[in-house]
Amino acid sequence: MRMNPISKLALVWLTLLGSVLVSFAELEFGHCERVVKEWADTSSSREEHPPNIDKRSLQDLLFFLHVPRTGGRTYFHCFLRKLYDNAEECPRSYDKLHFDPRKQKCKLLATHDDYSLMSKLPRERTSVMTIVRDPVARVLSTYEFSVEVAARFLVHPNLTSATRMSGRIRKNNVISTLDIWPWKYLVPWMREDLFARRDARKLKGVVIIEDDNPYDMEEMLMPLHKYLDTPTAHDIIHNGATFQIAGLTNNSRLSEAHEVRHCVQKYRNLGEPVLQVAKRRLDSMLYVGLTEEHRESASLFANVVGSQVLSQLVTSNATAKTETTKSEASVTVSESGSDKSETQNGTSEVASNKIEAKSGNMTVKTLMEVYEGCITHLRKSQGTRRVNSLKRISPANFTRGTRTRVPNEVIQQIKSLNNLDVELYKYAKEIFVKEHELVSKKMVSTSKRSIADLQNVFGEMEGEKLWKFVSVALMLLLLFLLFLFVNARRRITSKVKI
Ligand SMILES: *[C@@H]1O[C@H](CO)[C@@H](O)[C@H](O)[C@H]1NC(C)=O
Ligand SMILES: *[C@@H]1O[C@H](CO)[C@@H](O)[C@H](O)[C@H]1NC(C)=O
Ligand SMILES: *[C@@H]1O[C@H](CO)[C@@H](O)[C@H](O)[C@H]1NC(C)=O
Ligand SMILES: *[C@@H]1O[C@H](CO)[C@@H](O)[C@H](O)[C@H]1NC(C)=O
Ligand SMILES: *[C@@H]1O[C@H](CO)[C@@H](O)[C@H](O)[C@H]1NC(C)=O
Ligand SMILES: *[C@@H]1O[C@H](CO)[C@@H](O)[C@H](O)[C@H]1NC(C)=O
Repeated sequence: MRMNPISKLALVWLTLLGSVLVSFAELEFGHCERVVKEWADTSSSREEHPPNIDKRSLQDLLFFLHVPRTGGRTYFHCFLRKLYDNAEECPRSYDKLHFDPRKQKCKLLATHDDYSLMSKLPRERTSVMTIVRDPVARVLSTYEFSVEVAARFLVHPNLTSATRMSGRIRKNNVISTLDIWPWKYLVPWMREDLFARRDARKLKGVVIIEDDNPYDMEEMLMPLHKYLDTPTAHDIIHNGATFQIAGLTNNSRLSEAHEVRHCVQKYRNLGEPVLQVAKRRLDSMLYVGLTEEHRESASLFANVVGSQVLSQLVTSNATAKTETTKSEASVTVSESGSDKSETQNGTSEVASNKIEAKSGNMTVKTLMEVYEGCITHLRKSQGTRRVNSLKRISPANFTRGTRTRVPNEVIQQIKSLNNLDVELYKYAKEIFVKEHELVSKKMVSTSKRSIADLQNVFGEMEGEKLWKFVSVALMLLLLFLLFLFVNARRRITSKVKI
């Protein structure tokens, strides 16, 4: 067979082009490999935990690295806000634009910011805590919450009026969800999409929605599988926990973070060093909770973190008393910003959860009771808000049962897009089991010790001594009874004489 000269030439060109492309790709991969490795090396050397500091002892500043949709809000409202008062909270910690921790003498920093914030904190005097959740549940919850918050704006006749309203709400000391990363990207995007779909329905006239699967209801909202494959979701949601703990989110303060993240997103096998850094960081945290192990996590928190805050309160009670005045630190985080009454309720929430711990007699047990009461209340009000918001996109509705409607391929897609988070979650579970055992053992040993103490008291008066003690006591009792008896007799006889 003979090739004509032109096709021969084309073949040569193609081969050439191919090899150039291949070597470019190799070059880029090599570059990425270097970038990721350098970052991992500096992170782990910076990470070296000072050996003389016990990670389990609470330092001056508690940094709650709040991964979105892990249930951190309940920890914030029902634990941390009960333990720390407003003045101790780092000012506007949820709002990174206004926050510089070096300037503040604060003790609690709860934020969606990522670990890169540590570069601004006094490392040796900071304890870090976080909560980790099964990535599939976290991603589904992120989708649902984006929809829920965005749907609140559907009270407005059009997008212009909705956006104008949310601009007006950002005043005073109120931060809306829309100011907080990642919602400041996820919500406006979803909101725009919901309005566009509503406008399209209006144009069409009657729209009949046949499928009642809320994760795939094109007429009403962006279907889940499409949401998952958008640039925004890739930027912000997938592997979100790993990136946040590694300090590599799209919100990072680290200048090289963005290149590292893009490299890891492009070349999957570069994810390993990032995962390792995230795991080491979990290792060195004061507390790692699990959303799924809700009760055990709360109890671990109360025993590990709560107990230490409470004992510090007792020792520093004098300074605490002078600090109870309101300061600009008191910031309400309103969950929406779509209407005024919700914001006002948010404010009163702050006013009502004043410094219960400061009375000085709170114990781990009462802390747990306060927490239980608080979450019941919080869940109820969150549930009401959700129902009220989602009815605007009815028949789409998210309830506990609806997640079974997510097709298995989509679940697999989420797992694959969140491969690092899947691994990190497994690791967090191992840490949790260990810490939980440790604390249970400690509690058992302290209660054993008190029983042992009691036995010692009796143990000292063994045998003979004990019997002597008992017989002396009995003798005294007998004498006393005799005395009473004689006394009584005498009274009777004297009565007879009269
Ligand atoms: C949006 O709604 C507001 C308030 O009802 C109205 O004044 C405005 O004209 C509307 N804008 C558009 C573009 O429809
Ligand atoms: C973060 O992600 C959002 C959504 O994709 C994007 O709009 C924003 O520009 C990103 N920020 C940075 C610093 O990359
Ligand atoms: C708190 O401080 C006051 C003095 O300011 C002291 O009298 C009191 O005993 C302290 N209470 C506790 C529980 O330490
Ligand atoms: C907000 O407060 C008002 C009255 O102050 C109440 O009617 C309303 O139900 C509250 N909303 C929420 C979401 O708690
Ligand atoms: C603290 O003690 C006071 C009185 O001693 C009591 O009224 C109050 O309920 C106690 N608070 C807690 C949280 O136990
Ligand atoms: C959505 O589901 C919740 C819980 O089952 C229910 O209370 C609510 O009425 C539903 N909303 C609509 C609009 O059907």
